[in-house]
Amino acid sequence: MIGRLNHVAIAVRDIGKAAALYRDVLGAEVSAAVPQQDHGVTTVFITLPNTKIELLEPLGDNSPIAKFLERNPDGGMHHVCYEVEDIRAARDTLKRSGARVLGDGEPKIGAHGKPVLFLHPKDFSGTLVELEQR
Ligand code: CO
Repeated sequence: MIGRLNHVAIAVRDIGKAAALYRDVLGAEVSAAVPQQDHGVTTVFITLPNTKIELLEPLGDNSPIAKFLERNPDGGMHHVCYEVEDIRAARDTLKRSGARVLGDGEPKIGAHGKPVLFLHPKDFSGTLVELEQR
């Protein structure tokens, strides 16, 4: 069902500092920081030869990553994102096998303008999983 690893997301307190680390120390191709009001995060994308890294910094009062950073004050891996061909079909298959889909279960438009869903970390070895339609 799942295809390519689209990205690994890392939550950070200081996105400028984290972006500089990837650009200057690791020598990666790093995008500008983009505030995403609708998602409560500022994002930076780092393009690697085989996948991307998504840096996430909280934005606004109700950021979905605020609690994660309380528990992980140094930042840390927040989720992995796998590509799927048909997100609704993938959701229905996963639900039948007992996996929990977060929110109301309907795909939302994610940071790349494509439909996404999140799966409960307790059902996936303690890892928050994002599915993105290709
Ligand atoms: Co993501």
